[in-house]
Amino acid sequence: MPGFELWGEEERNEVNDVLETGILMRYGFDALRKGVWKSKELEAAICKRFGSKYAQLTSSGTSALTTAFAALGIGAGDEVIMPSFTFVASFESVLSVGAIPVLVDIDETLTLNPEAVKKAITAKTKCVVPVHMCGSMADLDALMAICKENNLVLLEDACQSIGASYKGRALGTIGEAGTFSFDFVKIMTCGEGGVVLTNNEEVYIKCDGYTDHGHDHKGGADRGADQHPFIGYNYRISELHAAVGLAQIRKLDSFLDIQKRNHGILKNILSAIPEIAFREIPDPDGDSCTFISWFLPTEELTRAAVDELRSQNILAGNFYWYDNNWHYIRKWDHLKSSISLHALGEAQQTALKKLQSQDFSASDAVMSRCISTAISLLWSEEQIREKGERLTSVIKKVLSQHPVTA
Ligand SMILES: Cc1ncc(COP(=O)(O)O)c(C=O)c1O
Repeated sequence: MPGFELWGEEERNEVNDVLETGILMRYGFDALRKGVWKSKELEAAICKRFGSKYAQLTSSGTSALTTAFAALGIGAGDEVIMPSFTFVASFESVLSVGAIPVLVDIDETLTLNPEAVKKAITAKTKCVVPVHMCGSMADLDALMAICKENNLVLLEDACQSIGASYKGRALGTIGEAGTFSFDFVKIMTCGEGGVVLTNNEEVYIKCDGYTDHGHDHKGGADRGADQHPFIGYNYRISELHAAVGLAQIRKLDSFLDIQKRNHGILKNILSAIPEIAFREIPDPDGDSCTFISWFLPTEELTRAAVDELRSQNILAGNFYWYDNNWHYIRKWDHLKSSISLHALGEAQQTALKKLQSQDFSASDAVMSRCISTAISLLWSEEQIREKGERLTSVIKKVLSQHPVTA
């Protein structure tokens, strides 16, 4: 997810505007900043590009999720349903508002299996979080129907899928709220940063205050005159980070075009191997194409392919999430054992303990066969063809050594 790959003059110019004024904070100092308001400008650009009524920038994707949960009124004792394959930030943000992460199985969309969501609903469930992993999307029609039927809030974690869409609408703008991450390895980057998107004015106003110590921002130039209608925290983005994002958002559509072209060439090459299956994509036209996620028929074959890629020194850029410490439930012992620097609530600890014995075999059956190949913006067509050929020769080799029996 490589916005950083095309870093250049545009980013430097935007950052320089801020350095010229010396006002690195997004609020206040009105006279000194000489009309430079990069965070406000980026929020307006985000609303325009993604078709969202409101956007609240934050210091990270994680703080965007935390902010969104708080603004949506999710807190102590509430259960939040999320997929077993995600990033640790998803459960971190739930825990940080006092709520309970309920992890459920994924399917070949690589995110929430709607049937698993239905089964996990209890009287305490408040929210469902489809995590649009690896540039593509969840089955949003099915999940929205479940939320509607059960009166649940849908919060989209689109941190990895900036610029992807579902049936013509940008991911992140479809649920009650959505989040993007602008960390260094995202489709567009601020270095660090994130945003909450929402079409609900009340939710937006809460996000605005929550990310800035509860300030109502009604005191004008005097921050000391702001009221605090509720408790908030400091999840502010800095003007320097917003400046980088402003240059990146202008290039986003060209990043997406390059990704789609490179993805198409590589996918064509991989498609020549009948044993390879691809991730299910609910709306293929909306894929941001940052990854190609593909499956081999068995875990044994997939592990053999990973070993062969490693031994040929070409594993980089090919992710076997099943063994990855960040992204899959299998490796989250700290979560399952409630290892936290501060005491977690009793209900949280009880729920987390249950994860130790919960059956995730349906998720294992998907993840143990999945490899995601990251798409670079810098590849030439020749390089893609070369990569594709090396990948296919590895796969053919392992298929010949481990014949698939019906
Ligand atoms: C799915 C998902 N959610 C949330 C985050 C958190 O974003 P950040 O790194 O900006 O805190 C990430 C970051 O990788 C992510 O992949």
